[in-house]
Amino acid sequence: MKVIKSVSDMAVKASRLVQGGKRISFVPTMGNLHEGHLSLMRMAKPMADILVVSIFVNPLQFEPGSDFDTYPRTFQEDLKKCEDLGVDIVFAPMESDLYPEGFQTMVEVSEVSKGLCGDFRPGHFKGVATVVLKLFNIVKPRVAVFGEKDYQQLCVIRQMVKDLNLDIQIVGHPTVREPDGLAMSSRNQYLSPEERVRAALLYKLLKEAQERFEKGERRAQALITHVQTGLAKDPKIAVEYVSIRERDNLKTIDVVDKPAVMALAVHIGKTRLIDNIFLTS
Ligand code: PAF
Repeated sequence: MKVIKSVSDMAVKASRLVQGGKRISFVPTMGNLHEGHLSLMRMAKPMADILVVSIFVNPLQFEPGSDFDTYPRTFQEDLKKCEDLGVDIVFAPMESDLYPEGFQTMVEVSEVSKGLCGDFRPGHFKGVATVVLKLFNIVKPRVAVFGEKDYQQLCVIRQMVKDLNLDIQIVGHPTVREPDGLAMSSRNQYLSPEERVRAALLYKLLKEAQERFEKGERRAQALITHVQTGLAKDPKIAVEYVSIRERDNLKTIDVVDKPAVMALAVHIGKTRLIDNIFLTS
């Protein structure tokens, strides 16, 4: 496995691989790799000839006052996991190389970035779209895999790829969960043991809403109220949003008569958690 830290070295390497007829699959990450990331890599590996994983904690997608400084950085452990998994190249750029002085261009996917997390994390999706487009340009993948846990992020990237005519297949990987249903996330480690127990409620309520939908409930508000009421019973959980949107374009719906996603974001103590479930008949 090669570890490349320079943007120009990575770009040259990717160009040579592509010119030599190799197809690159790509999993962008912010490191602190857990089973969720490893599943994305396992999915991406057989999709092309060369698997590239990037590790970069992207300052552009952290709002002021959020956890950029304290975000867990575990580079050596991450490298070991990548090596064991059969990753061909880890691309780990320096911030000053990816965003040199004078950097000023941002990518905005206007509509899909609105609502849901977009309302609570101003600028977040601009930061994500910008870094992902830069990474795509440097790594030159044919296919890139993203987790469905960050469903709005996946929709933003799909829209960007479509709007900007990028020749890259975007693949979503189902959310990987802990045995009690909690979606895997690097931020789960911020939870105290007591908060960790509470966090299992998120998926339990989403599953209950999905079961109600499967039994015939089509009123979005009734499903949302079920989840909100369940969350309100735990005074330590502060809800940001619970929402049902069209699955493809994240438009709001009142009646779930087309494929939809139910998404939520909460704070448990200082930790912000998101999750979602699909509603499809
Ligand atoms: O999902 C993430 O880990 C990040 O948002 C991503 C896609 C690597 C961009 O920094």
